Formats: sequence, C-alpha cells, structure tokens
Amino acid sequence: MYDKFANQLNTLNEAGNLRHIRKDLSNSNLLDLSSNDYLGIASDESLMNEFLACKELNSYCMTSSASRLLSIKQNSYDELEKFLASTYKKEALLFNSGYHANTGIIPAICDKSTLVLCDKLVHASIINGIILSGSKFIRFKHNDMNHLQSLVEKYHNDYPTILVITESVFSMDGDICDLQHLVSIKRKYKNILLYIDEAHGFGVFGNQGLGVCEQENLINDIDIIIATLGKAAASVGAFAITNSLLKDFLINTARSFIFSTMLPPINCEWSLITIKKILSMNAERRHLISMSDIINSFIRSKGYDTDSHSQIIPIIIGDSRKTIASSQKLFELGYIALPIRIPTVPAGTERIRISLNAAIETSSIEHLIQDLDKIL
Ligand SMILES: Cc1ncc(COP(=O)(O)O)c(C=O)c1O
Repeated sequence: MYDKFANQLNTLNEAGNLRHIRKDLSNSNLLDLSSNDYLGIASDESLMNEFLACKELNSYCMTSSASRLLSIKQNSYDELEKFLASTYKKEALLFNSGYHANTGIIPAICDKSTLVLCDKLVHASIINGIILSGSKFIRFKHNDMNHLQSLVEKYHNDYPTILVITESVFSMDGDICDLQHLVSIKRKYKNILLYIDEAHGFGVFGNQGLGVCEQENLINDIDIIIATLGKAAASVGAFAITNSLLKDFLINTARSFIFSTMLPPINCEWSLITIKKILSMNAERRHLISMSDIINSFIRSKGYDTDSHSQIIPIIIGDSRKTIASSQKLFELGYIALPIRIPTVPAGTERIRISLNAAIETSSIEHLIQDLDKIL
C-alpha cells in the first residue's frame, strides 16, 4: 500500500525534484535572498522589542478560540479591518492566510454559470480555489492582455459573470501586470469581475505601499484585492479589500472564513503596527527598485531572460539539477538563494529566485554581482 508513495518519492528524486526541509539556513553570516520580508520589517528588532514591551501586551490573546463568527474576542480584528478600510477607502475582511483567502473567496463568488479567466502563471492557491469552485476556467497567456481581451469578447454573451483573476506582481517572475489595460477591458463589458492578488505588490508599490492597484490609482476599479500579511507586512494572515455587499456575502459564504479558527488577536495587533509602518516606507520602496534595476540589467547582460521590474528577480536556469548546483554554489559564497522547481514553476523554467529586502545595502548588491559573475 505504501509502495506508491515511495515510488513517487523516487521519481521526484531521480528528476532532481525531491524537496526537503533544510536545517542549514539559520547562519546569520549568510545573506538571505529567499525571504519575502521585502521591507526588512521582520528583521527590525527595535520595532519588535517595542511591541513586546508595550503595556497592553498581556491583554492580547494568543488564540481566538473559535472561528471569527463565533469568537468573543473581536477588538483586534475590528481595529485592523477598520484601519485597512479607512486606508483603502473600501471595506476590508481578514483571512487566516493568502491560501485561505484564495481557496475561500473564489469558490464563494463563482458557480457553474461563471467563467473564470486567469493568468497562466497564477499562484497554486488561486488554481485550487478555481478547482474547488467547479467553474469552467481558461488560462490566458501570461500577462497577455490581448489574449484576455479575445477570450472575453468570445465568451461574454455565454456567461452571466466572467471572473478575471491575476496577480499584480508575479511571485516567481517579478513582472507586473498591466492593470490599466486590464481595467480598460473590464470597462467595455457589463459582466466582468476583477480579482487581483497583491501578495507581492502590497508594501512594495504605491505611495503608501498599498500595492500596484494604488500606484495605478485603480483601487476602486478592482472588485476584490487580496493582500497577504506574511510577506512585506512581516506577520501572518491576509485581507480582502472589496465593497460592503461582497464583504457581507463573503462573511456568509467563504468556507475558509466560516470553518477555520481565526488568527490569534496578538498577530493582528502586530499586523496593525507593521502596516502603519509600511505606509511611510517610501525610501525603502525606492531602494528596493534601484537594487532590482542593478541586478536585472546585470542578469540580462549575461544573456538570461527577465521581465522583472520588482523586488523578485528570476535567474532562469531551465533544469532542476543545474539549478540546485547554482544555488549550492551561491550558498558556498554566502547567499541563501534557493532553487525553484516544478510544480512551483513550469518544467524547463527552473530557476534561482532572488527576493530582495530593503535592509540589504547597495554594497552587498555589488558583491552579489561579482559572485553571480563567477557562477553564471
Ligand atoms: C500570489 C500569492 N498568493 C497567495 C499566497 C499565499 O499566501 P500565504 O502565504 O499567506 O498563505 C502566496 C504565497 O506565496 C502567493 O505568492
């Protein structure tokens, strides 16, 4: 009975795709280029110590002891949602994680009469949400708005609702969706809902770090924006920004919201602090993009293809074993830059994913380039 599991592990191993949990990464001499702590808040000890020393700390609960609908401890959630709502000038609803948000919201708002059009490279949690919904779905070519437009034109009379889902900043490529073009498509039709996952845009883009939707002044044109709190916000959880009707609808229908124990209030208190900090981190945002420009132009000069315009930079090696070997060489040179393989990225596009954080100094980037030059 267990043979099939063992065989599957063997197959993964033979292809260089076996994953394991590494115990050798906690060496503080290594430069971490794999974390999603984009603004460096997770490593800001003074902010954390301030939080841990605050006098209200022992009144913050370590557990909600129930799902949100049944919990008697609502203050921290309400406060965080109210802050997000007033910042985005829309309604906000918290979820336990980005994974919960995508697998809960998409099946709630879609049914068999909905057509879902999603980018070819959206995150696994979005795909899982779509599969759970049972809706027909078609993936448009990555960031290809003309392909999306042709699909909408072909199908808009056949479905009462078309849900278009994409990411603002793509998690494995660091390229950015043309949201202006996307919204211009939505404006031509009456039955399009837009769902944008800003997991990697939140904190990094926009004047207050609210994401690419803020940068492009399109917050009001997107029906549902998702942002996660485990990346730039250095916490855990996620939130949806939407209108009051959809918020009420999700409270009543999103199964991951209804049937899962809510985040501990203490995490939401911490999220409130980090989000308030994010709003004013424009210098860090500029630093991230200038480091990204330097690395991207170097990588292009070495003949590697990258469309990244963000803190995430792929070095596409195109083979699992070669990617592991390059990652190991970087490890020996003092960097954590882990290999990304299938199924996280399509076969043939295995890569090193460099993920920058604002605490990195420009001098470290100069060293990184010298070291990359030795191995690429
Ligand atoms: C685009 C995207 N959405 C959602 C998630 C899941 O978020 P979380 O880690 O909060 O579950 C991720 C995580 O990497 C992601 O990249």
